[in-house]
Amino acid sequence: MQIKEAPYSKLCSSKNILTVNGQFPGPVLYANRGDTLNVNVQNGGSQNITIHWHGARQLRYPWSDGPAFITQCPIRPGTSFNQKLKLSNEEGTLWWHAHSDWSRATVHGVLIIRPANGTDYPFPKPAAEIPIILGEWWKSDVQEIVNEFVASGGDPNNSDAFLINGQPGDLYPCSRNDTFNLTVEKGKTYLLRMVNAVMNNLMFFSIANHELTVVGTDAAYVKPFKTNYITISPGQTIDVLLEANQNPDHYYMAARAYNSLNGVNFGNTTTTSIIQYRGNYTPSSPVLPSLPNSNDTNASFNFTSKFRSLADQKHPVNVPLNVTTNLLLTFSINTLPCEDESCSGAYGDRFAASVNNISFVLPNIDILEAYYKNIIGVYGDEFPSFPSLNFNFTGDSLPVKLLHPNRKTEVHVLEYKTNVEIVLQGTSLLGGIDHPIHLHGYSFYVVGSGFGNFDKDKDPLKYNLVDPPFQNTIAVVKNGWAAIRFRADNPGVWFMHCHLERHVSWGMGMTFIVKNGMGAGEKLLPPPPDMPKC
Ligand code: C2O
Ligand code: CU
Repeated sequence: MQIKEAPYSKLCSSKNILTVNGQFPGPVLYANRGDTLNVNVQNGGSQNITIHWHGARQLRYPWSDGPAFITQCPIRPGTSFNQKLKLSNEEGTLWWHAHSDWSRATVHGVLIIRPANGTDYPFPKPAAEIPIILGEWWKSDVQEIVNEFVASGGDPNNSDAFLINGQPGDLYPCSRNDTFNLTVEKGKTYLLRMVNAVMNNLMFFSIANHELTVVGTDAAYVKPFKTNYITISPGQTIDVLLEANQNPDHYYMAARAYNSLNGVNFGNTTTTSIIQYRGNYTPSSPVLPSLPNSNDTNASFNFTSKFRSLADQKHPVNVPLNVTTNLLLTFSINTLPCEDESCSGAYGDRFAASVNNISFVLPNIDILEAYYKNIIGVYGDEFPSFPSLNFNFTGDSLPVKLLHPNRKTEVHVLEYKTNVEIVLQGTSLLGGIDHPIHLHGYSFYVVGSGFGNFDKDKDPLKYNLVDPPFQNTIAVVKNGWAAIRFRADNPGVWFMHCHLERHVSWGMGMTFIVKNGMGAGEKLLPPPPDMPKC
């Protein structure tokens, strides 16, 4: 993979963007279940960068995982890094993206993982597989937007367009000629491999006149279900079957940004592309599918709660039943005092974000190296509990002092093979919003979710321990919670964070260290010789 700048024109103007091999979106990678791919990442751009394989387990090998200053120092301009993409039982769709500052805005692509040789999809073989990647376009330089929003302490500017496969679509200026077109044949079924690579929004997606059948998410199969729309979080992937069973014509597929903050005006929020049936006919002008309103939290949550693991003989569920480690993590938007006059965010403060009131600070040397080489002083290993459990996390009575979190680099240490349950609790500080939480190095079972405060007596009684979905990203609904479980059997250093880019920039992330086991095959593998230096 060669990182380099390339000129692109959209929305009536041109600029240079950072790409992989000159392509935007980047190249599609193909693998089979269980493969290890060797990827040489060359940085031909002018800024530091890292590449992350989102959702790949990377068993015992966090060295190639990619998050800057968590598992590696960035790849400097003019240098390269040989990375291993190690798959285990992932099957379906994942993706890769830059994992340093906001470079992932343009440096990203789809990763397709087919069944292992000699095995097959748990559904009839589709006529074709179509990657559908949702993205965003800023007319100005993305790095400038980041610099400005970090300095001002306020919200970043919204993008100028949402994209389907790199194209804004017919509703945006100067875009009609390049609208993505998918040609289908009546009677056939297509597998859409959907990725949400958008920076700061969950997205609704729908196709006019067509029902969708959801068959997978985050490279794990689910019990198929039909739906008129989907909600997809940044970071999440969803596989859907599209049956071309309508009158031959042109139909819009469309994606609309979802954001639970009421009354925010997003300007252009809907991107389109066209499903075009083969044949001889005069097409009518396509109409938009009906999509939920851009602030419809119930529509988003209802869809997100529908997933069930396929849970058949070939795709067994291994949800840990005897939990040995319980964690409650709160996700909040906060403020911190401004340092200088260029900053003028909310309440004269700057925005911040936190997990258990810790706003995560990236260290100068990556945590993995510090852990592996016993370098003292890079991080602390006493990640705290929330200051008190007696709060109404989602009411309007949160103490104002919680607006100011502590800025720290603390990790949470997990013993090898402990069975972990984490309750991810959103809080109503500054109003609350959905948080798509992503864990590196693991997929987890989502055993429960709901609005309001997690109730430790009542909610566990309603857990799904039979066929919970197996995901790497879960949207914690606005002022609500989700409970996840996994077995800590992948030693290493693993980042967990909100996949809304502005939230992680504000500090909404934390790091787990999973310790080695005693056995030979239970330890961290050694680093490769060409690890980038800080
Ligand atoms: Cu999709 Cu930490 O990343
Ligand atoms: Cu968030």
